Amino acid sequence: MIPESFIQDLLTRIDIVDLIDRHVRLKKAGANYMACCPFHSEKTPSFTVSPTKQFYHCFGCGAHGTAIGFLMEYQGLGFVEAIQEMASSIGVAVPDERRDGDSEKRETLRDLLEVMGRARDFYKESLKKSEKAINYLKERGLSGETAARFGIGYAPEGWNSLKAVFPDNYDSQELIAAGLVLENEEGRRYDRFRDRIIFPIINAKGATIGFGGRVIEQGEPKYLNSPETSLFEKGRELFGLPQARQTLRAENRAIVVEGYMDVAALAERGIGNALATLGTATTREHTQKLFRQVDSVVFCFDGDMAGRKAAWRALENALDSLTEIKSVSFVFLPDGEDPDSFTRKRGKAAFEKLIREAMPLSSFLINELKKQCDLDSAEGRARLIAEAKPLLLRLSAPLLRLQLVKRLAEEGGFSQTEVERLSGIKGYAPSAPPEPPKRAAPSLPRTLARLALQRPLLVSRIPLELLPPSKERAILEAIIENLPRLPSVPNYAQLREQLRGHSLEAECDALAGEWIHLQLAEDKIEQEFLDALTRLEEGKRRTKFADLQKKASQFGLTGLTTEEKERYSQLLLEKTGANPLKQPG
Ligand code: CTP
Ligand code: MN
Repeated sequence: MIPESFIQDLLTRIDIVDLIDRHVRLKKAGANYMACCPFHSEKTPSFTVSPTKQFYHCFGCGAHGTAIGFLMEYQGLGFVEAIQEMASSIGVAVPDERRDGDSEKRETLRDLLEVMGRARDFYKESLKKSEKAINYLKERGLSGETAARFGIGYAPEGWNSLKAVFPDNYDSQELIAAGLVLENEEGRRYDRFRDRIIFPIINAKGATIGFGGRVIEQGEPKYLNSPETSLFEKGRELFGLPQARQTLRAENRAIVVEGYMDVAALAERGIGNALATLGTATTREHTQKLFRQVDSVVFCFDGDMAGRKAAWRALENALDSLTEIKSVSFVFLPDGEDPDSFTRKRGKAAFEKLIREAMPLSSFLINELKKQCDLDSAEGRARLIAEAKPLLLRLSAPLLRLQLVKRLAEEGGFSQTEVERLSGIKGYAPSAPPEPPKRAAPSLPRTLARLALQRPLLVSRIPLELLPPSKERAILEAIIENLPRLPSVPNYAQLREQLRGHSLEAECDALAGEWIHLQLAEDKIEQEFLDALTRLEEGKRRTKFADLQKKASQFGLTGLTTEEKERYSQLLLEKTGANPLKQPG
């Protein structure tokens, strides 16, 4: 464990502008620096780096982060590697901190991580002791080396095996929150994972955030997975990502497969750039995450109906992340085969050939649409264009879109301009300028959340109970939760690193993006904050007043309690200068 304070110091000592400028030529633009984004292809710069706020943000692709985040994404480094690289660039050594006892008992993210880490270690140890589990993995062709690479473990048979690891807190809320322990109707607790092979799901920081558990041999359900927690959101995580990092970088390509076992089997056979979603569809976040590290993503699914459907979902969710250099393609395996069985029978080279010859997204898109439309009829050809329309509109890469339009025109017997007109897209316009950042007036909670990112200490002065439940309020709560672990006067970059892996990460990034161009002098922050608090209080008074007024008009003034009457007259007085309780004359 690298001490958090070390990471926070590092963030104050390294200048993000220097660091990024070593890799990407930055140009000064007002208070910020700009460049063409290194994470997607563009002709006009929308990648912005703020020297005062110490983060970068791209308005084109949403890439966002601190100096650490930049090194991780740009060089494909792991969290620890990025820290090491930064530390060595200024000639300091990274200290290693053993975890220090149970100083705080609060149910925080750190506790959750701690619990997950201890469970993972236990499962790993248990695998060594289980001949049955070892034999099963051997039968499946996995070596001890591969098992170690993925941290594969075994959850023993008993109902309460984890009691050995958590003798004092097996009955605490923590283990339930972590999803390791369940409670039956009689309130008795038992382990979620019993007699299963365990696949830990590891995030970018190297921390275990969830588990997938497979039955040994046959049984239902085949897989059990950890529930989502504040650390673990299935739609964002990919199994095998930390293990694949190096190969991803070397090959500039990611292979997305369906199963944990496929990832492990491929690694065993020398294919180290495979990853799997966690039994869920591929999301935009998945594709975006991968495109930050590689230019080519190949989805490798079953050739059956389910596989094609999964591929279609992946296609839909990839459309708006595509650029001229970021490409998606598809491999459909022969019936009944998955990457594991395919490579076992046919070997690594045959699989690599499939990957090299993968079907480009454009072909898959057109083929699938053609299946749905009878191109021999005029109606069918019109339908082809109608079905393609929403997809074309989501596609942001102009050249790729142009190609698709041409092929659709050919298939449907239309001209290129007809397809463009029918599908409501504009023809190819070279180097369309990026959209300027949106400047709609932000809501009050949004303003407060942004101010709190800017100056985290402000959160303790915000009366959270006055804010309706919202993403912004959740961000404020996350900041409060993290304050104890931040330096006494934390800045945004330090806070952002603390939130790494948090489920609200993307929300915070978007919010900080709205702020990177705001040139608010430090001394104005306090004033803006006070104004926002005043508006919040006013809002509360208005609601209270409306409530009382409604009650008074329904039941008359006598329907109000003495206290309510007083409050009502006070509010009315503030509002109009008149007092309803005073008789005139
Ligand atoms: N999955 C799941 N729950 C299930 C079945 C599957 O969450 N009941 C998810 C798992 O992430 C699994 C993936 O879907 O890895 C693909 O399923 P499958 O192909 O059946 O699993 P494999 O990992 O290939 O396992 P095996 O080869 O051992 O059957
Ligand atoms: Mn399989």
